[in-house]
Amino acid sequence: MPQQPDSELLHIEHLVKVFSTRQGFSFKRFHAVDDVTFSLNAGTPEIFTIAGESGSGKTTLARMILGMERPTAGVLNYKGCDVARLPGREKRAWFFKEVQPVFQDPFATFSPLKRIDHYLYETARNYKVARKGDADTYIDTVLQQVGLSLQEVKGRYPNELSGGQAQRVSIARALITRPSLIVADEPVSMVDASLRMSIVNMFRELKDRQQVSILYITHDLTTAYYACDRIAIMLRGWIVEMGPVEQVLGEPLHPYTQHLKLSIPRADPDKAWREKVSLTELESDEYSRTGCRFAGRCPAVMDICRREVPPNLTCQGRMVKCFLYK
Ligand SMILES: Nc1ncnc2c1ncn2[C@@H]1O[C@H](COP(=O)(O)OP(=O)(O)OP(=O)(O)O)[C@@H](O)[C@H]1O
Ligand SMILES: [Mg+2]
Repeated sequence: MPQQPDSELLHIEHLVKVFSTRQGFSFKRFHAVDDVTFSLNAGTPEIFTIAGESGSGKTTLARMILGMERPTAGVLNYKGCDVARLPGREKRAWFFKEVQPVFQDPFATFSPLKRIDHYLYETARNYKVARKGDADTYIDTVLQQVGLSLQEVKGRYPNELSGGQAQRVSIARALITRPSLIVADEPVSMVDASLRMSIVNMFRELKDRQQVSILYITHDLTTAYYACDRIAIMLRGWIVEMGPVEQVLGEPLHPYTQHLKLSIPRADPDKAWREKVSLTELESDEYSRTGCRFAGRCPAVMDICRREVPPNLTCQGRMVKCFLYK
């Protein structure tokens, strides 16, 4: 069992998730997350971005970190505890307080028939974070952290809020348990482009003032560049480049990162993970390749790339998985 230093909040090592998918009359297995390794610091909160095209395993990775999906292999520890095997109810309750999700579509997480403050009171009650009489004050304080107030929100139904406001409420709901880590999967892809930056700015404030780390999953490299500290670029289950955002996006080394920077991939809101259990032709082709999974599209491809899996190399202050830098 590998040792996780106390200085780490999240410790992920050689993490793998294998799915099987129907192909014609048979089932085919593939590694939706493959040999992923990274850690988040405990002492200094950070915004860590995971970016990549659709179908690169970002949501699968997020779901494993949230304890919603069991890893096939590898290590996934939060504060030294194996997330997939939290012993006992108490430990699980502790974990769900500590690690909170924020999803893409705030309107899908709130029922249109319930007042939106219901979710805030419910979370406060379930996690016993405020005494009965103190709940209003506490919820108002949390709403203020996302630029809202209880007065603005109380008694309103989700459809009476804008997309940006609803997403702020879902972030406030996540903050109620005083988490150390928020896993936000495409939190701004359904928010108007003009409001995206304000939400991402808020993440920065939460990191600085509330000491919460944020795993920010996105297609949007602009907000990632602006907001995050470190970034990992995912390609068909692999992390192919990872390091400080100024380096990775400022001067990308991996041909796939260079391609992403030029193509500006977009999230497809119609393709929620649940519906996407069948692979596109390109996904299927790249997931099952021998050698580098980007070889078929890479402008700098070499013979070796079609034969061997590239090693994880350290180059110019970041990790890069590419034979070009060997
Ligand atoms: N439960 C499942 N069973 C089989 N395959 C799945 C399952 N969930 C996801 N997949 C497949 O795994 C691959 C990675 O999916 P995932 O949703 O993690 O990608 P993503 O990077 O989040 O994509 P997007 O940007 O579109 O949200 C995809 O090819 C997807 O079709
Ligand atoms: Mg996803």
